[in-house]
Amino acid sequence: MSAEEVTQIREQAKATYHSSYVMWANHLPWSWQVYKRLSEIVSKWKQCKNQGKILNIGAGRNTYGLDPYRTFNIDQNLAMLEGLQNAVSCSADALPFKSNSFDMVLCVGSIVAYCPLTEVLREVNRLLVPGGKFLLHYESSWSLEFLGTPTFKATVAVADTFNDGDKEKAWVYSPEFVEFQLESMGFKVLKQEVIHLLSPLIYRITKSEPFAAKFARFDRVLARFVPNGFAENQILFIEKL
Ligand SMILES: C[S@@+](CC[C@H](N)C(=O)[O-])C[C@H]1O[C@@H](n2cnc3c(N)ncnc32)[C@H](O)[C@@H]1O
Repeated sequence: MSAEEVTQIREQAKATYHSSYVMWANHLPWSWQVYKRLSEIVSKWKQCKNQGKILNIGAGRNTYGLDPYRTFNIDQNLAMLEGLQNAVSCSADALPFKSNSFDMVLCVGSIVAYCPLTEVLREVNRLLVPGGKFLLHYESSWSLEFLGTPTFKATVAVADTFNDGDKEKAWVYSPEFVEFQLESMGFKVLKQEVIHLLSPLIYRITKSEPFAAKFARFDRVLARFVPNGFAENQILFIEKL
């Protein structure tokens, strides 16, 4: 992970998420499916602790219905905080809050695809109270989209991938690396959900995002038989011990 790569991907994210960016457009099936599943997952997650302060990292104008009186929203792009209360423009790896000041942290929408995971984990670890709950979404280097490329199964890599039909570069991580980082910082993974398990393989073969997205309907059944690390999107329910 070179400093140049970190800067390049950060700048790309600043340019992508501008004021007229349409988040999770419903005519783009791949990202719409991610959004629908993320919404279901966040709905479940927010019931796991019903009091205290919540931090929404990389809000992207979206709070997933979290209580506005308890939620602080941060995003590095000011435009992505429009309409949100308790909004602070800053980067996920340098959060201007006191230690032990949050009970729950939400970090979904692949924020760690644009910002180094270990730096974000260090900040979340500092901010969460013991017993606090954390929902983390990252993109796996085991995704079958990368089969046969040097990115496949890399510990950490800058992947050439896509976002809403456009090419982009993103950080991807191996599930073993993420689990190791979490454990060594004193987090415990309680549960895992995945999105886009077979579809990345179909994308690898056809290079058609809309066609490949059709195969996401098999995710839930396949997830019982195929190692879940192969899915593009990994969502972890985490507790700080
Ligand atoms: C795909 S959007 C997800 C938005 C929202 N979390 C959701 O799930 O709908 C990614 C968001 O992360 C923000 N972002 C990217 N890099 C960031 C960083 N280093 N610090 C804070 N926000 C960042 C972008 O500005 C964008 O709003």
